[in-house]
Order: sequence, then C-alpha cells, then structure tokens
Amino acid sequence: MAQQEDHFKKVISHAKEYGYIFGSSEIYDGLSAVYDYGQNGAELKKNIRDYWWKSMVQMHENIVGIDASIFMHPTTWKASGHVDAFNDPLIDNKDSKKRYRADVLIEDYAEKLNQKALKEIAKAKKRFGDKFDEQEFVTTNPRVLRYRKEQETVLQRMARSLEAEDLADVKALIEELGIADPDTGSKNWTDVRQFNLMFGTKLGASAETATDLYLRPETAQGIFVNFLNVQKTGRMKIPFGIAQTGKAFRNEIVARQFIFRMREFEQMEMQFFVRPGDELKWYEHWKETRLKWHLSLGLGEENYRFHDHEKLAHYANAAADIEFDFPFGFKELEGIHSRTDFDLKAHEEFSGKKLQFFDPELNENYVPYVVETSIGLDRMFLAVFSKSLEEEELENGSTRTVLKLPAILAPVKAAILPLVKKDGLPEVAQKIIDDLKFDFNVAYDEKDAVGRRYRRQDAAGTPFCITVDHDTLEDESVTIRDRDTMEQKRVKISELATILHEKIDFKHWAK
Ligand code: GAP
Repeated sequence: MAQQEDHFKKVISHAKEYGYIFGSSEIYDGLSAVYDYGQNGAELKKNIRDYWWKSMVQMHENIVGIDASIFMHPTTWKASGHVDAFNDPLIDNKDSKKRYRADVLIEDYAEKLNQKALKEIAKAKKRFGDKFDEQEFVTTNPRVLRYRKEQETVLQRMARSLEAEDLADVKALIEELGIADPDTGSKNWTDVRQFNLMFGTKLGASAETATDLYLRPETAQGIFVNFLNVQKTGRMKIPFGIAQTGKAFRNEIVARQFIFRMREFEQMEMQFFVRPGDELKWYEHWKETRLKWHLSLGLGEENYRFHDHEKLAHYANAAADIEFDFPFGFKELEGIHSRTDFDLKAHEEFSGKKLQFFDPELNENYVPYVVETSIGLDRMFLAVFSKSLEEEELENGSTRTVLKLPAILAPVKAAILPLVKKDGLPEVAQKIIDDLKFDFNVAYDEKDAVGRRYRRQDAAGTPFCITVDHDTLEDESVTIRDRDTMEQKRVKISELATILHEKIDFKHWAK
C-alpha cells in the first residue's frame, strides 16, 4: 500500500517536472480537480485521442465521427434523464466535515474483502507450489468462500438500496459494516443525500431573458440528437456507429486522485446502433474489441479486468467496466453499456420527431438499440503514464528513471543529439531533424554529456535517441539507441525514417 502511494506521488511529481500536467491556474494556488496539460502532456493526450479515433473510425467502414457542441438545448437533459437521475449519493462525516460518495465507501469496503481473498490464494499458491489447484481452492477454502460471499452480499444490498432510492438503508449499511472516515477513523455520519452532478450556466443578455443551460455531462447525447442527420446524410445502414471525442463536465464533489476524477474532462465515446434483439451480441463484441484495443498498447494483460455492473444505470440492460490497475488499485477505465432504445425513444417523446430507421431487410421501421463504448481520455492518460513510469535498477548497480510510453503514444519520437557542440555535428543533427520532422515529432538536444542526455530523454519518455558523432561525417551513419533496452545500433542516416516508421506507425500497433 505504502509502495503504491509512493509510486502515485512520483507519478504526479514526474508529470509536472517533465511538462505533462500542471495544476490549473497554479499561480493563484490552483483550482481543485482541474488540470492543464503541458507541452508533453498535450502531445501524449493528442496521440491517445488519435489512436482511439483511428482504431474506431478509420478502421471501421460502418463507424463515422462527429464533433457536436458542448451546449445543447436544455430539454436534451430532461429527455436523457440527467436532470432527474444524474446524482451521486453523498454522505458527510460530522467530525471531520469531509464529504464522501456513499457508494464508493461501500465499494472500497467490498474491494478490501476481495483483496483478503486474493491474499489467501497467493499464500496457498506459495505453500503448495506446482501442486496448487486454484479452481479447487477458491471453491472449497472456507476463508475465501466467506470473503467472497460477504463481498457479494454487500454489493448486492447496496445495488438494491440505490435502485429503490432507499438512502436510509445505504446509511444503515455503512453503519452495520462499521465503515469509518478513511482520513480520520470517525464513524459519525450524516444521512445520505442525492446531489446532481451537472453544471448549470446561462445563455442570454439579461437575467430576465436568459435561458438555463447545462454544460454537457457526457458527449453521448450529442450523438443521439444527431442520429438521424448522420444516418440520412451518410446513408448509414444498421448496424453502424457514431464516434465522438470532446469535453464533458461534472460537478464531482469528491474529486480526488489527480486526473482520475476531474470536473472538466474529455471523453471518447462511440454509440453503435443495432437491430432490437441483437444488442447483447454486439455488447459482447464491443467488450472484446475494446479490451483488445487496450492490450495492443502492451502495458500488460494482468493490468486489466472486467467488472460487470450489479447496479445498472437507468438506461442500460447490461453494463461492464474495463478496470485498470491504477496506482491506487483496480478502478474503472472504460464503460461498455447496452443502452437499449432508451435515449432515442426519450428524444422522440420530448422532441416530437421520429428517430427511427427503415430496415429494408425486415421491411419495417424501428428505434434502434444502442451499445456504447465510453472511455475517459484523461483516465486513459493516467493509466498509460502511471504504468510506464519505472525506476529501473541497472546492471552496474545504478538506477534510472524511465518513462516507457508505448512508442506510438510518446510525445517526442526521437531526440537528435550531436555528440559535441562543434566540428559540424550540430549542423548534421539539424539536417536529420529537417528530414524527419515532416513525419515525426523530433527534438534537438545538445546540452550536457551524452549520457545525461540519454537519461533526460528516458525520463521524458522519448523512445529513440539518435546520436551524431565524428564518424558520421565520414560514413553517413549514426547511433540509434532504444529507450527500453538501451541497445545501441549503428545505422545509415538514409535508413532512419524507415526504422522509425516500423516502430511507430499505426499499422504496426493496431493489428
Ligand atoms: N456516456 C456514458 C458515460 O458517460 P460514465 O461511466 O459516466 O458513462 C464514461 O463515463 C467514462 O468517462 C468513464 O469510464 C471514465 O473513464 C470517464 N469519466 C467519467 N467521469 C469522469 C471524471 N469525473 N473525470 C475523468 N474521467 C471521467
């Protein structure tokens, strides 16, 4: 635990030191849960967004992308259910005056039970070695069975109470489980209350004529209201998808954990419109496809798991999260939701316009069902950044800090380093930059000894360093060093672009 916290602190300070993430308006002491992306952060974020967009839109003939406004007609949010049901159940601790999400307190308690079960399994694995039969152990060991049963009971009761809006029972559950304020240990709780997460704002010149608006809390509704526009103008046939990336806003009361939970964040969402009755087949398809996308980045299969929802949102008939092992444990990274025809039907009802598809094969009109994939770009950034940051022990006993970002996502693909600042080497380095910069984001670095420059580029996440030395002047060759293996190879300058394309191009990653 302490090790995890330590790593998380390093992630935050490294993100600042290397120009990835700054606190918002820091010179005024910042604004809580709001962050700015620096020169490297903006590049990494853009590269993640591009990787998603290309994988979802460019690679699928039946998916197109749009860019809808943040402001939408206020009735949108009545229809979508956000005005009435986009709430968090909050609870205050009377002693510490701290506010928490009641469901998160209970989920954290349940996760501790899960961790206890995993500990038992790990202990047994160690004790029995090769003879260990995990399947038999988890189905017969009384302790594991007890932890798992209790975890299930707790989560099911919470889901039932929230579904029934029985907030008194949510509080009773917290008290029965003896859940204490994580910061102070106090168990002196207020009642649980619902709190709407949408930010309100006004449109109009004077107070009397102004209209109340909301900042969109999800990008999805911009897709639903454009369903017919896109279907008709793009002559789309079901099944088809509409993708979008963009800002969303939520008045998160308990905004913690750096860029994991922010008040202003970016989503990458895709709504896939299908025939009614086909939705669960497509739901499974998208669960699998999205997990594959994550695995393509090579951060390690063990860092992902599915979590099927016990409590379904008001619009869903199936839902799962892809959880990632963040520095504070496994948490939601992406949601895959089977949203039924809830949204389109609601918009039909509130707008009085038909939002239907004429299916020539069935010779009938229907409101399509929707399977949605929804991922937070900032959360994906945190997943990639935190898993890539390593303190590595080297063979000579020294350590190096290295940010092993997947090369396709790295802000700077290669740093070009003249060995010395004289003898014509900087000019050759500059010439290499001028050739490569049309295809790759490359940087020039001439300050300090070359070893220090390598370390600096390792820590900044640059996958390749290209060093120009005196031999270069004779043989037109340079040394290319790989950030992760630290291997160095002598190659011709004329081969550099091909080498980088092979390591970085989209087609080598998204297979
Ligand atoms: N359209 C469905 C939807 O918005 P969600 O589960 O509320 O579903 C989808 O959000 C994703 O957006 C989450 O999996 C998460 O990655 C990201 N997300 C949600 N709230 C966030 C916040 N406050 N800060 C950063 N990312 C957030």
